[in-house]
Amino acid sequence: MIKCVKCNAKYDDNEVIYNCKECGSVLEIFVDIDKSEVPKETFDCRKDTLWKYKEFMPVDETKIISLDEGGTPFCKCNKIGEELGVDLYVKVEGSNPTGSFKDRGMSVGITKASELGVDTVGCASTGNTSASLAAYAARAGLRCVVLLPSGKVALGKLAQAMFHGAEVFSVNGNFDEALETVTALALEKHLYLLNSINPYRLEGQKSIGFEIIHELGWESPDRIILPVGNAGNISAIWKGITEFHNAGYIDELPMMTGIQAEGASPITNAFRKNTMDMVPVENPETVATAIRIGAPVSSIKALRAIYDSNGYSDTVTDEEILDAQKELARYEGIGVEPASAASIAGLKKLVEEGVVEKGEKIVCIVTGHLLKDPNTAINACTKPIEIDADIEALKKVLLNK
Ligand code: F0G
Repeated sequence: MIKCVKCNAKYDDNEVIYNCKECGSVLEIFVDIDKSEVPKETFDCRKDTLWKYKEFMPVDETKIISLDEGGTPFCKCNKIGEELGVDLYVKVEGSNPTGSFKDRGMSVGITKASELGVDTVGCASTGNTSASLAAYAARAGLRCVVLLPSGKVALGKLAQAMFHGAEVFSVNGNFDEALETVTALALEKHLYLLNSINPYRLEGQKSIGFEIIHELGWESPDRIILPVGNAGNISAIWKGITEFHNAGYIDELPMMTGIQAEGASPITNAFRKNTMDMVPVENPETVATAIRIGAPVSSIKALRAIYDSNGYSDTVTDEEILDAQKELARYEGIGVEPASAASIAGLKKLVEEGVVEKGEKIVCIVTGHLLKDPNTAINACTKPIEIDADIEALKKVLLNK
């Protein structure tokens, strides 16, 4: 059943609908499973993909379109953790098939598209959603249309969307404007929209929450920190964790902590005013182009997740993001794109401010791979040193350092 998050209006699972017809708010899929029906041991000996938790995935099991997404690394990060005085784990979503967490949502979203029998799918994107959609549409044999904000999509993501055969449009405008345009096309039924306004997308992404709980031995961390852009992922992870809580698998819940870039922070602004009313940011700007978003469509779900979990939201500067990106790469060997590093930058800031307490068990979600945005990575480094192919020339430089 599809349900409105605001007025509780209900819709059939197979209705193609993105907003409530009664009140215009966003929708979610109602999933209610109890441990008496599905004991947690059910998941133990299955292949390590998100479909391990298939009982919680509201789609037709015989129609699954998958690239074995999910089951991503869960790395203990002792160096950064000890420096900050916390017990730190990093969930490395860049290890998904197209290099970001979007693959989880697309696997379920494209499965639903196949179930519905649509022939064209589409999205607007800051890059990763389009890369993922293009790959999964190719696998399902569907036509794929993507709208990208002109000049603001990192190179790796653009290459993926194009190479997987999507019809790519470069929009003169930002992500929010591109999303409005493609949504209008979807409402005229020219394509099936697979942005996170489509509630089936979040059903896949909630598996990040499942995996964290499972990996911690059926316990909740104290806090989950992640970057927030269109605000789908924080909403999805919270949904997954509350479903596991309602099923009776866990007793505690984590504090959901959403980090935004200073130049694109409508969710944090609302949190600071302790309100549910998100005021869009005009002309959002940040080096973390993945989260360069001014009017997040899932703001109501995200703010609920933050308030209901006794969580927090804060901003970080571009400089803090790039510093954290480098630290993660240099001290822990984990290469992430700038937006992902907002979680680590946020953790550092919240430790300094005393919001995060010493000894907390924290999971930071790093959402996309370093290679998504090679230009930013290269610009942050000194150039390679040119030498002749000669041992003496090499020694001269290397040993004189
Ligand atoms: N991190 C990365 C690497 C992303 O690509 C995104 C969103 C986010 C974080 C934020 O997640 O939107 O669920 O709050 N990227 C979208 C896209 C908008 O089009 O690829 P969110």
